[in-house]
Amino acid sequence: MDFHVLTLFPEMIENTVQTSITGRAIKNGRISLHTVNIRDFADNKHSRVDDYPYGGGAGMVMQAEPVYQAYQSVKRKTLKPRCIYLTPQGKVFNQTMAEEFALEEELVFLCGHYEGIDERVLEEIVTDYVSIGDYVLTGGELAACVMIDAVSRFVPGVLNNEESSQFESMQDNLLEYPHYTRPESWRGKNVPAVLLTGNHTKIEEWRLGESYKRTKERRPDLKAKNRPVTAAYFSPTEGTKKAVELLVEHLTQNPQYLDLTRRKLRREKKIFSAQELLVAAAPVYGGQLPVLENELFSNLKGNHTPCVIMAAYGNRHFDDTLAQMKKILEDRGFVCIGAIAPIIPHVYSDQLGKGRPNEKDEVIFKKFAVLIKKRIEEGEKQGFISVQVPGKAIPDKKTKKVLPQFLDKEKCIGCQVCVQRCPVYAISKETLEIDEEKCISCMRCALLCKKKARTFHYSKIQEHLEKDFFVPREIEFF
Ligand code: ADE
Repeated sequence: MDFHVLTLFPEMIENTVQTSITGRAIKNGRISLHTVNIRDFADNKHSRVDDYPYGGGAGMVMQAEPVYQAYQSVKRKTLKPRCIYLTPQGKVFNQTMAEEFALEEELVFLCGHYEGIDERVLEEIVTDYVSIGDYVLTGGELAACVMIDAVSRFVPGVLNNEESSQFESMQDNLLEYPHYTRPESWRGKNVPAVLLTGNHTKIEEWRLGESYKRTKERRPDLKAKNRPVTAAYFSPTEGTKKAVELLVEHLTQNPQYLDLTRRKLRREKKIFSAQELLVAAAPVYGGQLPVLENELFSNLKGNHTPCVIMAAYGNRHFDDTLAQMKKILEDRGFVCIGAIAPIIPHVYSDQLGKGRPNEKDEVIFKKFAVLIKKRIEEGEKQGFISVQVPGKAIPDKKTKKVLPQFLDKEKCIGCQVCVQRCPVYAISKETLEIDEEKCISCMRCALLCKKKARTFHYSKIQEHLEKDFFVPREIEFF
């Protein structure tokens, strides 16, 4: 990440940013800092860059041309980098904005002084007006340093493992739990006993509880914004599960998972409040949701609950799946605020979707997660907006085609894993035969069988898929 700062006091920026963790990040090349002294572009021998305001009044105004020239002098890598003007009139900076700015390759900061900067140059170059809080500083420099620090923390490699593995509570609108170090007893005050037990599950539970307590006491405004995230997924071969896990870890530190591959959990009703977020994920089967005994997600009920939908597919297309999911969930009280269609390995081909989601996909998940956080922040103020997705909400009915399959009785040891873990209970406990009415050809039984006793015959489909859909697709999101 390259930071460019247009300022009258470059040393103020350099001294601050070149210190501590950001200083280390500059040395190891994770970020770079370039300051531009606006005074170098003054057009008079006194190097003055300010003048009296038209219309009269107190204070001086920074002139347009030196600021414009300073901006033009920035050696940019990108065509039109975002240019942030630090001003108490801007949008108040927060953690989601820091995360969003960190997705850029470079940023330009413009620091004002005196009463401000001539409006005409601001209109020309500024993309974002940002304030660091409702108070007035003598100039934008300290605000720029605050932003550079907070943005840098999100740049990969700036924090070391220990620093980044810290409980990133702000992500969930929670304050950090209290910390203690040696001695165990200090002036008669003891370290909480749970921290000495070595029981990590208990310690995590205690820390989360303290975070809630502390946020409620000290920042009730933040507590009101805390939003538990549940990811409900159907994933017979775990491709969808992996993709949803990768997405959800960018949304919360503390996800709850609901595995709807398990029929038992599909039968349990679950109600979500308006204060939660549901992430619903399913694989695409022939362009639609898998056909189960009951419609997938029909056990979930929202109460104007925002939800994000994911249709994971094996590089052919997601067709109607997102539209179908959106309708099912919105009919059940959810508001679909975002949708994504990642590519996962195809069950009928080891070539299609191979290695997906990959590193490039992860960057897209990160971008999508930031977009969702922004939509949640907006939605909390103005109400959630339902997103438009392509496809038919009620897809055409398809005639069911079941793959020919075979059980090698020589290899089978009768362990019953296939029986127990079939998501639609299609396998007879007694005969181990597959009921073709119920089978969804998901391949879970074949993949779970340690003895490789089950085979499905899909070479024709595989041939066609690999011929027509070989070119890797990009993730789409809405
Ligand atoms: N310049 C002066 N005050 C400021 C503030 N609160 N935030 C950002 N820039 C500023």
